[in-house]
Amino acid sequence: MNTPPAPLKVTVVGAGFYGSTLAQRIAEGNYATEVVLTDVIEGKPQGLALDLMQSRPVAGFSTRVTGTNGYAEAAGSAVAVITAGLPRKPGMSRMDLLEVNARIVREVTRQLLDVAPDAVLIVVTNPLDEMTALAAEVSGLPRNRVMGQAGILDTARFRHFLAEAAGVDPSQVKAITLGSHGDTMVPVPSLAWVGGVRLADALSAEEIAAAVTRTRDGGAEIVGLLKTGSAYFAPAAAAEAMVRAVATGGRGAGEPLPVSAWLDGQYGISGVYLGVPAQLGPGGVEEIVELPLADDELTALRAAAEAVRTKQAEARALLS
Ligand code: 2OP
Repeated sequence: MNTPPAPLKVTVVGAGFYGSTLAQRIAEGNYATEVVLTDVIEGKPQGLALDLMQSRPVAGFSTRVTGTNGYAEAAGSAVAVITAGLPRKPGMSRMDLLEVNARIVREVTRQLLDVAPDAVLIVVTNPLDEMTALAAEVSGLPRNRVMGQAGILDTARFRHFLAEAAGVDPSQVKAITLGSHGDTMVPVPSLAWVGGVRLADALSAEEIAAAVTRTRDGGAEIVGLLKTGSAYFAPAAAAEAMVRAVATGGRGAGEPLPVSAWLDGQYGISGVYLGVPAQLGPGGVEEIVELPLADDELTALRAAAEAVRTKQAEARALLS
């Protein structure tokens, strides 16, 4: 087994499928000293942690996993991921979860900040952009220390559907998805490539439009199939990529990743959390990257910002 180089604690709040799969992926990544998994359900995080610890001799990782119903164990975390909250049921939009999840995210953020004031916060609870804004507000942390997971997942879905349409491995597809994690998601066909060929030359307009639509509805399609709960394998892979980038990254250490980040003039947008490419590192969002979008894509991104701004205000009003 390799020993991780420096003490590094990551806390995952919520031991549902998303949280527990995320804890597994981080632990197996073997760059953290400890993963703390906390949940209100008695015994569940403890049982999952014990199970994960027993996998270490076979899976070959050194990261310790601690399960708890409280927050004391999270003290000193460098990164904390908030997965707590209700998932959608079939037919629900992510926005239907606004009020109930706002209360949960507010409470969890307060608890985390009490013990881990220096943590970078990653929010994955839906509705994503609104819950990220709420956590930032409740925490009072600098906005670059709070971000949301969605763009990596939405991008992964876009790449998957394009790869399937083109009949290639997804590693051959370069693409990005910006905007909100919802109806105003902005997949970016103008900057997509398939095996070194521009997307527009690799697939028909109809095939591209179908991939865009299926990406936008990607979460709902899985909710409809599962009937209880929502996707977690791809979402957890995406959140793990963010944790890893914060824990081990920094300027020049890897590609920018699409995340829900606070915009302060970039793309002509200010005062809102929205999916954009960002360089992540120990400080959280270290730099937002401005891509040369097509006019219609930039218009869609700005429309997404206005939609999220309205909902962020609604979330704030619900709790005041
Ligand atoms: C999804 O899109 C859970 O929102 C997440 O599947």
